[in-house]
Amino acid sequence: MAPEASYEVVTWMSTLNITVIISLFLALWIHAGRFIWKFLHREQAARMPGFRWQYLVITLAAAVLAMIGRMNAGALPEIHKYTLFDDRYPQTSRGFVRIAHISDTHFGTSVGPEMARKAMEMVNQTEPDLILITGDMIDGRPEKSREETVYFKNLKANYGVYAVHGNHEYYSYPEEWDPVWRDLGITILENEHVPIVIDGKTALYVAGISDRQALRVKDKNYEGPNPEKALKGIPPEMPVVLMSHRPAEFNRVAPMGVALTLAGHTHGGHIAGLDRVISALNGGYVAGYYAQGDSRLIVSSGTFLWGGFFCRLGTPRGEIAVIDLMPRKHD
Ligand SMILES: [Fe+2]
Repeated sequence: MAPEASYEVVTWMSTLNITVIISLFLALWIHAGRFIWKFLHREQAARMPGFRWQYLVITLAAAVLAMIGRMNAGALPEIHKYTLFDDRYPQTSRGFVRIAHISDTHFGTSVGPEMARKAMEMVNQTEPDLILITGDMIDGRPEKSREETVYFKNLKANYGVYAVHGNHEYYSYPEEWDPVWRDLGITILENEHVPIVIDGKTALYVAGISDRQALRVKDKNYEGPNPEKALKGIPPEMPVVLMSHRPAEFNRVAPMGVALTLAGHTHGGHIAGLDRVISALNGGYVAGYYAQGDSRLIVSSGTFLWGGFFCRLGTPRGEIAVIDLMPRKHD
């Protein structure tokens, strides 16, 4: 079976499941509304009109919403631009350091090779200095998504392509992926950092922490997220861009002086209303820009989506964030 065909099965199953979930949700609200109406109009309750076709209408409405969510989920990502100022960011000959931030491509369950190729081309067109990928790049064994992941090799950045594992990398035979990431030119940072040298001097550090799913991999001794270890040895005056798959880690790393944290995992919250729940489960962060003092956080809504919940409805589209870091202007 061609990869797109198996992804179609996964994503259509997801659309069906989401239709059921939205139907149940709408039915719950309608029943709650009827219950309240009956309670408030007790003397007229017997005369309340019945609605024979309500479940058919609810199911059709849910199917239409799930289809719209599916179309949004399968679209190419949007480019979202940010310019961040900080005294710690370096003066460079280019005038800024440009990061292209990708997350949650989930190759292996959702989009096929053509979408992968186009998205990587979009990233290159932004002319990044660094490409940073905040996890959930794949699902399943390497051979499953080979036709998509090969396009990671096309990524071009002046100072490298770095990534962290997300929870889905730890579900997906991580030891089989280690040589693949090396071959694709992606350096995985697991509780470690690298200096980025621009114009002959260290301009900033890129750090990455593991995902807590690492601790649940059977028969392996993977380390969970350890920001102290990831940042150890970095001079305190230097700017750090830290990758964490889950945004909640921002609450831990912001007080440690990290200038910018990049995260993903939330997929923008998937559906309006559900995004509030996903935010609450992720430290209060679901999509976009946040700040605590001088420490900033950008949460990607995911460049693509996991095929098992393939829906974006009333929430941000898939994105590639382009972030320019500039030293703060002084008069
Ligand atoms: Fe995730």
